[in-house]
Amino acid sequence: MSNDYQLDTLAVRAGIERSQFGENSEALYLTSSFVFKSAAQAAVRFANQEPGNIYSRFTNPTVTVLEQRLAALEGAECCIATGSGMSAILSCAMGLLKAGDHIVCSASVFGATVTLLGTIMRRFGVETTFVSGSDVGRWSEAVRPGTRLVFLETPSNPLMEIYDIAAISAVAKRAGALLVVDNVFCTPILQRPLELGADIVIHSATKYLDGQGRVVGGAILGKRDVIYEPVFGFLRSAGPSLSPFNAWVILKGLETLKIRIQAECASALELARWLEQQPRVERVYYPGLRSHPQYDLAQRQQKAPGAVVSFEVKGGREAAWRVVDETRLLSITANLGDTKTTITHPASTTHGRNTPAQRAAAGIGDSLLRVSVGLDNVEDIKADLARGLDS
Ligand SMILES: Cc1ncc(COP(=O)(O)O)c(C=O)c1O
Repeated sequence: MSNDYQLDTLAVRAGIERSQFGENSEALYLTSSFVFKSAAQAAVRFANQEPGNIYSRFTNPTVTVLEQRLAALEGAECCIATGSGMSAILSCAMGLLKAGDHIVCSASVFGATVTLLGTIMRRFGVETTFVSGSDVGRWSEAVRPGTRLVFLETPSNPLMEIYDIAAISAVAKRAGALLVVDNVFCTPILQRPLELGADIVIHSATKYLDGQGRVVGGAILGKRDVIYEPVFGFLRSAGPSLSPFNAWVILKGLETLKIRIQAECASALELARWLEQQPRVERVYYPGLRSHPQYDLAQRQQKAPGAVVSFEVKGGREAAWRVVDETRLLSITANLGDTKTTITHPASTTHGRNTPAQRAAAGIGDSLLRVSVGLDNVEDIKADLARGLDS
């Protein structure tokens, strides 16, 4: 299928390759291995002299459909699906880096990303410098001759900081490094980082791409000559692969991605405006509010501000936990991007394993709450939060 179609059409159809039965919905190939016609065919397949599937740790037709659909949506030449968002980041790091290399990463990123890049990769001789704030000058100061990757999330989890992808991509290019953008909060519907100068896009498909809180998955996207050999080579041998069942579920999720995101963003904006009016709310972090320090950049860079709203409650951790505990509708869970609205206290959950210094560098305090707005009616969400805020 041509990739000239609009994004909503691509989300429904891109990558479909029908079997001999002509099914309309994508087929689910639940098989761990594939059968060869002869020993000779097995040998040429293994030697990469003939295209075709061998084993689902390497490739699987259902996973391939998902990879092609995600590539079409992100405008990427190549997509490699992985078993989770974190294994996408791990595969990128393991495939592209060696001991002695250096990473520059925003301090405001998902907690496990801080642990993976800052602590685990250090054991393999890769050092990471974390940059606080979106001031591009700080990114220029942090790069050095051995910098190979520059990594950021925009908007960031959970503070909704916005980073200027084009400006930071220029910094990375000058340093001879690759810019990796975690596009989880926007999805390609709201932002296409490769068009803005990023080299690689990362997804946790667990979030909006599935969108209904069912499965865990991830993806790496970029130019074929940048990612295919090193990153697919790592995945093929190390095995952080996506299961065909999860790929199939994510494909079905993608079909409703655009209408979900649009509805969730509209409710998130309304919720953020309402939260700003609440006397017990200290501060709201949402790039669709004029009070957000990167409001103009978000308007320029994204088609909509996203559907995650974070806010600080007056009264510290006790007051924040009260808001969580008084909810009856919202799901108290660490996931986001689900049709069911979720509420999270990042300092004690998603970022709880980071050191107090790492949390301070990321601006994550005890009074911070993160709400991922789903398809619940926004009036019901407000009423659920008002109970704890008013008590
Ligand atoms: C921005 C971001 N990137 C990556 C991940 C990791 O994804 P996964 O949980 O699928 O490994 C998360 C998970 O919350 C996330 O929020």
